[in-house]
Amino acid sequence: MALLSYGVASILVLYYSVGGSVRRMAELVAEGVERVPGAAAVLRTVPRVSTGIEGDEPAVPFTGAPYCELHDLEACAGLALGSPTRFGNMAAPLKHFLDGTGLLWQRGALAGKPACVFTSTASLHGGQETTLVSMMLPLLHHGMLVMGLPYTQPELNATRAGGTPYGASHFAGLADDQPVSDEERALCIAQGRRLAGLALRLK
Ligand SMILES: Cc1cc2nc3c(=O)[nH]c(=O)nc-3n(C[C@H](O)[C@H](O)[C@H](O)COP(=O)(O)O)c2cc1C
Repeated sequence: MALLSYGVASILVLYYSVGGSVRRMAELVAEGVERVPGAAAVLRTVPRVSTGIEGDEPAVPFTGAPYCELHDLEACAGLALGSPTRFGNMAAPLKHFLDGTGLLWQRGALAGKPACVFTSTASLHGGQETTLVSMMLPLLHHGMLVMGLPYTQPELNATRAGGTPYGASHFAGLADDQPVSDEERALCIAQGRRLAGLALRLK
């Protein structure tokens, strides 16, 4: 399995976020990863897909995590993938990035690595599950071991906002400004912790 040079399992938390909701979730997933001794979280994002009207994206993001490179995927021992829900699906910039991973797929570079997914929506029934499942599909094609969240996490039954067995989720509201609830937060952390623990066990 992929280890950082100093012997720590590297867990890639790769997300796309415009309004900050998925970024906050990514930071919580990373917090869960870091709670596992022997694991370290690597936060990465992807650039917007340029419309040609707004101009090109900067080579380095102005804020937040650095842009992901194929090497980050290859080097990771596990992957947590986060996207806002866009019409019940993952956001185009993340799909665009994944569509550029064909060479890794040809080599089976991600096969056997554990992975999980997370998302945020404006409305409570706005497509969290469909988005999460859509995000799993390319990971399954890569041969990744996709894991969800078990109901042994009590927050899955207690939540009145986000949180699904397919992965962590957040109900951000129409203005994308609702705070992450206690249950959503616990599930993001649990997801990161479980992913890192599984990556270490697969060692
Ligand atoms: C083009 C577009 C499509 C969207 N589609 C949905 C949707 O299908 N269901 C939903 O509940 N929210 C939808 N949203 C809202 C976002 O999923 C929501 O605001 C999310 O929290 C944004 O995450 P971010 O703050 O990390 O960018 C959409 C937003 C945009 C811009």
